[in-house]
Amino acid sequence: MTAALLDISPDAIAASARRVMARCDELARETSMEGGLERVYLSPEHARVNRLVAEWMREIGMTTRQDAAGNQVGRLGSDPRGMTTGDEPALLLGSHLDTVPDAGRFDGMLGVLMALEVVRLLRVRTDEQWRSVLGFALEIIAFWDEEGTRFGTALLGSSAVGGVWRDEWWGLTDADGTTLRQAFLEFGLDPGRIGEAARRPDELVGYLEAHIEQGPELDRRGESLAVVSSIASARRFLLTVEGEARHAGGTPYDMRRDALLGASEGALAVERLCRAEHHIIGTVGRFEAFPGGVNVVPGEVQFSLDLRGEFDGERDRVWHTLSGELDEIMGRRGLRWRAREIHSAAAVSCAPLLQDVIREGIGATTSTAQDPATIFSRAGHDGMAMGGITDIGMLFLRNPDGISHHPAESVSTGDVAHGIRALAEAVLHLSRSRSGGGGGGGGGGGGGGGGGG
Ligand code: GLV
Ligand code: MN
Ligand code: MN
Repeated sequence: MTAALLDISPDAIAASARRVMARCDELARETSMEGGLERVYLSPEHARVNRLVAEWMREIGMTTRQDAAGNQVGRLGSDPRGMTTGDEPALLLGSHLDTVPDAGRFDGMLGVLMALEVVRLLRVRTDEQWRSVLGFALEIIAFWDEEGTRFGTALLGSSAVGGVWRDEWWGLTDADGTTLRQAFLEFGLDPGRIGEAARRPDELVGYLEAHIEQGPELDRRGESLAVVSSIASARRFLLTVEGEARHAGGTPYDMRRDALLGASEGALAVERLCRAEHHIIGTVGRFEAFPGGVNVVPGEVQFSLDLRGEFDGERDRVWHTLSGELDEIMGRRGLRWRAREIHSAAAVSCAPLLQDVIREGIGATTSTAQDPATIFSRAGHDGMAMGGITDIGMLFLRNPDGISHHPAESVSTGDVAHGIRALAEAVLHLSRSRSGGGGGGGGGGGGGGGGGG
């Protein structure tokens, strides 16, 4: 157990957790999908949700802006009781507000809403232990297009902030053929100004994100919070298999070049190769046959591949082996295949200092001596794009049954309360550690800290 630095009543934290849950419900109503949740980049729902979140930011004294990529940002100067907005470096807290199709209501939104409560709690506390100065500004950033649902390429918002935007992305199209450039213009953003969204390393102290785990590990361990050690690397491909469309009745088997059967064998090869590996996961999430007639041998299939691993090298080795298998399968069936890579993100390690302060933050909220779980994230997060310009750290919350990217995704109000407290404590421990352990004024007590950032 680490010393607690936050002097806030459990009632206030419980009220914060209830507000987070109610706001997750409220945001879930901003959807383009009948009977479910889907909210994509540069949509009318994006604009409405940004306005709502900006109001919530202003309500706790933050100044707000929408950046050049459509991310919503709020800023509070380093005196939590004041509203100074100087140009001191900022600790960014946040997550994303876009969703997958037929999504749950917590993936992304939870981290933004928890950040709002952390800022609220740090601002209102009248604290003798703490000199009320964090030593850095606090910003909340609500990213867009972490999921890549609309244009296929993920992490667009955070890539703009991380300064790794690629001009070739302007030509990406959505399912209606709208290019990313057109979508920017229709949304009221100027593609020519995208560079203005990029942040400089010297403006930032780090990036901290709270997120549901999206897997069952914490649930199985019976623990509510974990420190994240790293985020898995990911590559995504669109694969096309070409054969020949012909009559379903008239074409004997020895004349068929059935693209669907070849692609199916390819999808099974993905499973077989990845299952044989320790930390590699491959998913075929989209699979379409053309021309799509019930009485036509499929002449073409397009399918997606999402390939992840804890380490880039292992992931790339599996892709290499898979490519060889696809050559063999398609060659044997008289088919051709090609792949277009639509997303690539290297594995990113969470900064040791931010892992430490999150560990201390969790430690300050529990009475056990046991260290909290440390796990690597198999899911992708905006930190992957932010890791190039600043230190990143993540806090995971238990996700019952580990179900995510599904409407049944959940988190308990109790775990959210626990997470808010741990995240606020982590911010205070970071502040203390950056100020050489003395930032706690008269309080805080022993443990951790020290050694500047
Ligand atoms: C994002 O949620 C991803 O991991 O695909
Ligand atoms: Mn997601
Ligand atoms: Mn997410």
